[in-house]
Amino acid sequence: MSTTAPELTIVRTVAALRAEIAAWRRSGATVGLIPTMGGLHAGHLALVERTLREVDRAVVTIFVNPKQFGPTEDIERYPRQEMRDAGMLAESGASLLFAPSVDEMYPAGFTTNVSVTRFIDGLDGPLRPGHFDGVATVVTKLLLQALPDVAIFGEKDYQQLQVIRRVTQDLDIPVRIIGAPTVREADGLAMSSRNAYLSAEERAMAPAIHRTLLAVAARLRAGEPAAEALSLGRQALANAGIARIDYLDLRDGETLAAIAASNSRARLFAAAWLGRTRLIDNIAVAEL
Ligand code: PAJ
Repeated sequence: MSTTAPELTIVRTVAALRAEIAAWRRSGATVGLIPTMGGLHAGHLALVERTLREVDRAVVTIFVNPKQFGPTEDIERYPRQEMRDAGMLAESGASLLFAPSVDEMYPAGFTTNVSVTRFIDGLDGPLRPGHFDGVATVVTKLLLQALPDVAIFGEKDYQQLQVIRRVTQDLDIPVRIIGAPTVREADGLAMSSRNAYLSAEERAMAPAIHRTLLAVAARLRAGEPAAEALSLGRQALANAGIARIDYLDLRDGETLAAIAASNSRARLFAAAWLGRTRLIDNIAVAEL
């Protein structure tokens, strides 16, 4: 058995990122990219694991992207714990961490925006104006900086995943986008960097989101009309103490269009507040 300590190189400039990747390319290695905002958890590490099943080298990026946070959103309190994250990444088998500054990503004079016109008319689109343009812009930059063979994103942020699939297709970015299943806590709560904000009481209520998605999906599979199943779901969330619900919606899993009745591609999406923390989750209706 090898006793070699795993090695993680940390780079902070696009030039250094490209130099590292170019060296691997010269030896024929394939490369996968995992963009994150840090505050890493087992969901992120599952993306690294998945990447290393596809390619030889995993590059993780940590950048808390100001362009995707609204003026009243939580960028100031977003977890920043690079040493801890780097330790987790070294253990996960990732080779390279790209952790640029805001100035490196958006130098003075930066003026280009990648803007999508589909997939953003519902769910988080209207509720977080500019958010998906911010995501599309930073992900486009990261993909062009690293030029990986594959890039991996979680289904936890399903609308984001669909936006990114479309952007790379529309802009002819030569990368294969892979969606990975949501990693959950034992009680079903989707892992999220934002779970760290929850008080003990809020944390105890939070699994109701996933529980409700499962219950609504079961009703839909049993043939209950969607409007009725969704209405019962909203009631169940309220009964669990989750009073502020942004949405509990049934959508087509590919186009994200609202659908009045379930079908084989249907997905359920939820966004709700626990105190000052906004959590999102989604499942396929067909998922058991
Ligand atoms: P972040 O929230 O840090 O998530 C980074 C990646 O991890 C995303 O692809 C997200 O979908 C995935 N992820 C988060 N929680 C997960 C879970 N429980 N199971 C599986 N995957 C999970 O999403 C972002 O950052 C940013 O918007 C980013 C794409 C990095 C652009 O700034």
